Amino acid sequence: MLSIKNLHASIGDKEILKGINLEVKAGEIHAIMGPNGAGKSTLASIIAGNENYEVTEGAISLDGEDLSELAPEERAHKGVFLSFQYPVEIPGVSVTNFIRTAINETRKANGQEEMHANEMLKVIREKSELLEIDRKFLSRSLNEGFSGGEKKRNEIFQMAMLEPKLAILDETDSGLDIDALRIVANGVNKLKSDKNAIVVITHYQRLLDYIVPDFVHVLLNGKIVKSGDASLALELEEKGYDWIKQEQEA
Ligand SMILES: Nc1ncnc2c1ncn2[C@@H]1O[C@H](COP(=O)(O)OP(=O)(O)OP(=O)(O)O)[C@@H](O)[C@H]1O
Ligand SMILES: [Mg+2]
Repeated sequence: MLSIKNLHASIGDKEILKGINLEVKAGEIHAIMGPNGAGKSTLASIIAGNENYEVTEGAISLDGEDLSELAPEERAHKGVFLSFQYPVEIPGVSVTNFIRTAINETRKANGQEEMHANEMLKVIREKSELLEIDRKFLSRSLNEGFSGGEKKRNEIFQMAMLEPKLAILDETDSGLDIDALRIVANGVNKLKSDKNAIVVITHYQRLLDYIVPDFVHVLLNGKIVKSGDASLALELEEKGYDWIKQEQEA
């Protein structure tokens, strides 16, 4: 589904990604871990099409289609979803209206009719129940005055509504209380299918107790330096990143 080959990317004259290779197949969950400043959020932003970064080498494709010339919204219409580490606030636009617009824009771009209002309400009800979201919350302005955990939960609600092909969750677990973590993780697990793929960026092995990844990758200084299964996350928790750095130097 997602294929990244030798991706190099810079901002100004600073090279941040230094040759990333990553293959994500439908039905898989991948976790990306790595120290602060390694380039995890940069990688996520570049997949989603953030134009502040310059891709200097390499390629990203989705289902065989090159993404490099596509604008962020075109990528979204093709089913790429990014949950931000720091979600933006949009005063005056309610959670419901935002999601309604997003869904209908995607439908339009794919030549489908708008979702009928009754259908929309039904889906909103289903998904908000799945994620245990209070109905009152849905009429509030997007992210305005939301607590950290509410922002994260809302991001997962958007993901549940949009049913993306490829979901990238950037530190969706940070700042979540234990119950919210479980709810968000359950939501992600319920959304998992053999047609979509999920990439979770996290600092904590804890999340991976709930969302069990098929693969764990360690991103260090702009490169994926180690990949393994879920046990790699446990090993990292135990030994820290110095272990990998030393391995690299050896
Ligand atoms: N717009 C920018 N301008 C300047 N430097 C940037 C910019 N965006 C990212 N960087 C730098 O690129 C590096 C990688 O940042 P990135 O946010 O991708 O790290 P990260 O792995 O997500 O870290 P964290 O775990 O702290 O979220 C950092 O050194 C950061 O300062
Ligand atoms: Mg980050």
